[in-house]
Amino acid sequence: MSDSPHAPEPAEITPDAVAAAVDAALAAIAAATSTTELKAARASHVADGSPLAVLNASMRQVAPEHKATFGKLIGQGRARVNQALAAKESELAQAETAARLEAERVDITALASRSRVGARHPLSLMQEQISDIFVGMGWEIAEGPELEHEWFNFDALNFDEDHPARQEQDTFYVDPTSRHLVMRTHTSPVQVRSMLDRELPIYVLCPGRVYRTDEFDATHLPVFTQVEGLVVDKGITMAHLKGTLDHLAQQLFGAEAKTRLRTNYFPFTEPSAEFDLWHPTFKGGARWIEWGGCGMVNPNVLRAAGIDPEIYSGFAFGIGVERALMFRSDVKDMRDMAEGDVRFSEQFGMVV
Ligand code: PHE
Repeated sequence: MSDSPHAPEPAEITPDAVAAAVDAALAAIAAATSTTELKAARASHVADGSPLAVLNASMRQVAPEHKATFGKLIGQGRARVNQALAAKESELAQAETAARLEAERVDITALASRSRVGARHPLSLMQEQISDIFVGMGWEIAEGPELEHEWFNFDALNFDEDHPARQEQDTFYVDPTSRHLVMRTHTSPVQVRSMLDRELPIYVLCPGRVYRTDEFDATHLPVFTQVEGLVVDKGITMAHLKGTLDHLAQQLFGAEAKTRLRTNYFPFTEPSAEFDLWHPTFKGGARWIEWGGCGMVNPNVLRAAGIDPEIYSGFAFGIGVERALMFRSDVKDMRDMAEGDVRFSEQFGMVV
């Protein structure tokens, strides 16, 4: 008698009974088409209570002289069944993984369906690149409004009442003119704001948009970008200005770039200069290209900002960013920079 109350009755072990149990198990295993069906086949043909398991358990009843024969018979039968079970198990698991992978398949090469968000504008990139060069030297970035008071844009910068730049044909005045608001014609008003706002010494860079009543053509935009630099400290000379401009030129255009100054006039610097950039590999050959204006901060400007010109001196410069982009990247028509076509921007990298 079995010790378990639920154990099935022992079966009589015969070669036919073993073969039938093995065949039934193999057939059920072969017929399983999923791991769930295979589990069911195992439960009814292999697990405890299955005919094969019952036959195996019945070995206890077998007379000692038959044990070896029947033991071998059942052992071989069970081995075949277990082998078939293991093989089917891995076959089904593989098939199911493959089917799941197929169902979850994502075509990562299908770029056509990706929506294009845009690209960083090369003018923004260049402003950031210039800013980085100066931040790397410990300068600060300053900002000012594009809609500016005439006092900051002109008066504090030592422009006469009748300076030609104030004329309506150069400057966008904003109605009503009695409010004296203009679209800033340069980034130089940020010089004045910086001197009024900040502690001395001052080392600031101001990239930003400026406005002039210029034509919209291949070399002029009524809205363009400048980068203003201003230093006010003790003992600042023109040598510092020249060294700074050369450093900028080399960082932006390569080690062989250099700058030169040509005398010029600006009301807010004295002496004043225009500066040119030279590089051996400019498109169209090595040459000098006008790049911006600069000079030593006019003592009148320092005074207007409450700084004693007997103690402090400074230099300032203003660079045209569109021009820099034109000769660095060989952009032939400035209007491409204003139109905002992503196909133009994409050529400079930084697609988002
Ligand atoms: N603001 C001048 C311009 O727009 C450039 C400049 C800046 C000149 C700083 C001298 C010093 O042309």
